[in-house]
Amino acid sequence: MNDKQLVAITAASQVQDGMIVGLGTGSTANYFIEELARRQREEGLNIRAAASSVVSGIKAEQLGLPLIALEHLSSIDLYVDGADEVSPDLTLLKGRGYDLVREKLLARAAKQFVVLVDRSKQVGRIGEKFPIPVEVMPAAWRLVQASLQTSFQALGGRAELRQNAAKDGWAITSHGSLVLDLVFEAVADQQPETHWLNQQLNNIPGVVEHGIFVDLASTVLLADNGKLEEIRKPA
Ligand code: A5P
Repeated sequence: MNDKQLVAITAASQVQDGMIVGLGTGSTANYFIEELARRQREEGLNIRAAASSVVSGIKAEQLGLPLIALEHLSSIDLYVDGADEVSPDLTLLKGRGYDLVREKLLARAAKQFVVLVDRSKQVGRIGEKFPIPVEVMPAAWRLVQASLQTSFQALGGRAELRQNAAKDGWAITSHGSLVLDLVFEAVADQQPETHWLNQQLNNIPGVVEHGIFVDLASTVLLADNGKLEEIRKPA
């Protein structure tokens, strides 16, 4: 069993009968979906699921998990998803995929948000390994790009429109938006403080959502070469 499977199976063992469970997106979330479906099939676990993306919805459907559409939800019991980066205060970077909007909605709606990572996702500061994905209204992408570059000029902020996987067009999210990937060219000790950056991005018109998840994770399940660690949000 690899580390992603270990955290996924551990999270699936915490799911209880009657729960509404949010399904994340990505390779780790896929292992979780598979294990949840196995428990439903073999143990008669009775749950309903809400998908964070078209991809995870189709996977759940193929495995026979009953789905509830987002518009029918006002809260969910548990959301389980991977992340691209996790900082020491459990702030996350997400959105290397194309599913930021539903991911953040489910994370916020959940009574418990369990994040599944391996050691490679642990960082000292958000943005250390990946650009910050900023999902934008298609018609506003140049305006948002200009706002980002003006707001973060002193830090060397630069935002590039994300290309699709084939590099022959632009990436379109499952919400139908474009993505600007934001990087800072300032030296390491002059990088923006994450909570401040979160606030700034929340206030730019035309930004649909962005990949910094502050104060949303309840627990991080982290595996490192088969060793499992559970990191809880400080009280
Ligand atoms: C999807 O938009 C992301 O937020 C994923 O949760 C993230 O990329 C994790 O993917 P892996 O589990 O494949 O590493």
